[in-house]
Amino acid sequence: MADSDSISARISVDCPSEIQQVLTAAWSHDVGAVKKLLDTPGKASCQDPKTGETPLHAAIRACGHPSEEDDPEDLEAAKKTVYELLLWGAIWNDVDDHNETPGCVAQRLGRPELYNLCVEAGVRAEMLFGLMDGYEELSSGGEEEDEEMGEANGHVVEEDGEEAPELVATDETAPQGEEQQAEEEEEEDEEADGQRAFQPPKIDSDVDVKSENYLRSKLTYSDGKLVDDDGNGVMMAWETDIMRQSVDALLPDKPPGKRILNIGFGMGIIDTMFAETKPSKHHVIEAHPEVLEHISSPASKFGKSWEESGPEAGAFKIYQGKWQEICLQLLQEGHVYDAIYFDTFGENYGQLRMFFTEFIPGLLDENGIFGFFNGLGADRKICYDIYTKVSEMHLADAGLDVDWKDIDVDMKELAEAGKGEWEGVKRRYWTLDKYRLPVCTFLG
Ligand SMILES: C[S@@+](CC[C@H](N)C(=O)[O-])C[C@H]1O[C@@H](n2cnc3c(N)ncnc32)[C@H](O)[C@@H]1O
Repeated sequence: MADSDSISARISVDCPSEIQQVLTAAWSHDVGAVKKLLDTPGKASCQDPKTGETPLHAAIRACGHPSEEDDPEDLEAAKKTVYELLLWGAIWNDVDDHNETPGCVAQRLGRPELYNLCVEAGVRAEMLFGLMDGYEELSSGGEEEDEEMGEANGHVVEEDGEEAPELVATDETAPQGEEQQAEEEEEEDEEADGQRAFQPPKIDSDVDVKSENYLRSKLTYSDGKLVDDDGNGVMMAWETDIMRQSVDALLPDKPPGKRILNIGFGMGIIDTMFAETKPSKHHVIEAHPEVLEHISSPASKFGKSWEESGPEAGAFKIYQGKWQEICLQLLQEGHVYDAIYFDTFGENYGQLRMFFTEFIPGLLDENGIFGFFNGLGADRKICYDIYTKVSEMHLADAGLDVDWKDIDVDMKELAEAGKGEWEGVKRRYWTLDKYRLPVCTFLG
């Protein structure tokens, strides 16, 4: 075991004795002692004030790297200790003085069984927080501690606890009482007439402050990136391969004549690729005034002449406004698409979830394919793994099956904050060498 992972390095000499006892019992995988010591709430997540070691870190770190001398009974005891600590409310994403969560330690030491226990704990926490109208913050502090949670991915951000992901119907979208009954009857009549009935989606009426601020920010297009006035990377050219593979997944064999909806124009990378497939319908939704200005500039490929080049009026169109409003219009007008891609910025996971739960069922053709930029929790592997599972469960709730396609990300120019691709960008929102590309289709 590396010196920095030794018990003497991790449990400091001046650590209060109450905390020291719990950490030592966890380190020695003494489940009986751990149970006895966890007599008050909060003890399972106590931390050495100097090293930030929690009992979960201790129980995992004590296992060290796998070796031939490993005692299988000790690994079992380690798992039981971790399990017991989690039962007593140990926090899965507390970071130590090396900016590692217990799961990060398990991953680094090559202990998948213990890593998986941490992932499962994170999934439970996120699902529970989702039910309680908010998600646990997935970003686990450390180098990005000053940032609000959820900005880890650069595009859609995770829930920051201020949003209500359980969707609240507003007066405008979910009529009540007699009015509602009248509308329901009207919908039934329409269905009986064989017309497509418009079901108003339930939309979250809370104003997302981060998104509103972003939509008011000044943007700069320069050297392969789009950056806001705070230096956040809105879109970056290194993501081109991810966009290419997303197009390949959404339009297998790329036959012409497909109906495409893209949400979030950014640098127009994916729209350029979509346009090359010669679609019969290509709709783009964009809300930022400066992106819209960029789109209508003479140098843009997506200006007036592009719109006029469509096979019929309105077939190629930039919809100006927030998708939350435009999608209602598209539903009302009966638009249906073969491929839908979602990649916004400054919004949290609750918005993405709302999109696929409330809008995809009405907008996607029954044989269509839906994809989104998957940057959820991408500043830390364990967060990425947890959000993969959480979103998979929510997609299933929405009637969607997801196939994850792993893509290699070349990290040469992405390895260090402020350097390479990150030069001039405030925060390194991507840290992983694998991108998990979601390919979603209707279940059954
Ligand atoms: C990450 S960029 C999209 C990049 C794009 N996939 C590409 O290939 O260049 C996100 C875009 O979503 C837009 N956006 C953010 N919130 C939006 C909203 N609520 N409705 C519509 N567009 C939004 C942003 O202005 C930005 O242009």
